Amino acid sequence: GPGSEPLPGKVSGRMRVDKRKVVIVGTGMVGMSYAYSLLNQSVCDELVLIDVNKTRAIGEAMDLNHGLAFANASMTIYAGEYSDCADADIVVICAGVAQKPGETRLDLLKRNAQVFRSIIDPVTSSGFNGIFLVATNPVDIMTRITCVLSGFNPRRVLGSGTALDTARLRYLLGEYLKVDPRNVHAYVMGEHGDSEFAPWSQALLATKPILELCGENDAVCRERLVQIEEEVRTAAYKIIEAKNATYYGIGMALTRITKAILGDEHSVLTVSAMMRGDFGQRDVFVGAPCIINQNGIQKVLPLSLTDEEMEKMNKSCDTLRESFEGIF
Ligand code: 2OP
Repeated sequence: GPGSEPLPGKVSGRMRVDKRKVVIVGTGMVGMSYAYSLLNQSVCDELVLIDVNKTRAIGEAMDLNHGLAFANASMTIYAGEYSDCADADIVVICAGVAQKPGETRLDLLKRNAQVFRSIIDPVTSSGFNGIFLVATNPVDIMTRITCVLSGFNPRRVLGSGTALDTARLRYLLGEYLKVDPRNVHAYVMGEHGDSEFAPWSQALLATKPILELCGENDAVCRERLVQIEEEVRTAAYKIIEAKNATYYGIGMALTRITKAILGDEHSVLTVSAMMRGDFGQRDVFVGAPCIINQNGIQKVLPLSLTDEEMEKMNKSCDTLRESFEGIF
């Protein structure tokens, strides 16, 4: 009958049949901003929400489901259990107590370490065999704790790290240089926190080193770069003072990392990863540019940092190692 004739043209040979499945643990503002961003960008096929407050997770799933009629693709969204992690590609941990005004990320450490014991165990017991992505602060330490508690290969455990700080840096540099931030290639590395730094020797506008670009206005320009680095470092404090929490930026950073994993993109993102001799560091999870694919961290990029930048990396890693050893 009509419509039964095969359509002309090549039939696609490969079609993905397995569902891209993401589980979010913690449906607070960060978890849900991430969920909302996943839905708007149609990043996965199945999205599970888990929270200690099951009623809240159910309400959030309902709210998101009511947006499906307006979305670009279908998605199965529901409030689930830890057993739902069994066949998930990624488990994203956004649970934990929030940073209070004036409180540093490291202050949160003890409280959140306790929360993680009650999360990682049931996730791994489910038979989960995917990638852990951690957003809870202090993120570098919480990522390391996740790695230890899960016993997973460190390449399959990553944190949001300085992905958001890098986005903030690119945004501010884009404003200053009056170029699209997507053409600014610069990273924030180190702790996602007070000891983070921007390795300026590695910062490019398109293919032009930004330090060269400063040129004649050198002093003024370099002063502005230092200011920008400081603005990035204090951005979260400013937002928390103004609106008590940050969530849209981190939600989009987590979405970007998720796309890199699910799409096997081999994209370079500054996530929190275990250093195995990279930048002369060991026994530490810290923000560094990494190639991200379906297996998690494929490789940490060996940038040629200056001695001064290496010194900043050392300091940042020392801080992280000390706080980890202080509590774990
Ligand atoms: C941020 O940087 C608070 O870590 C959070 O926005």
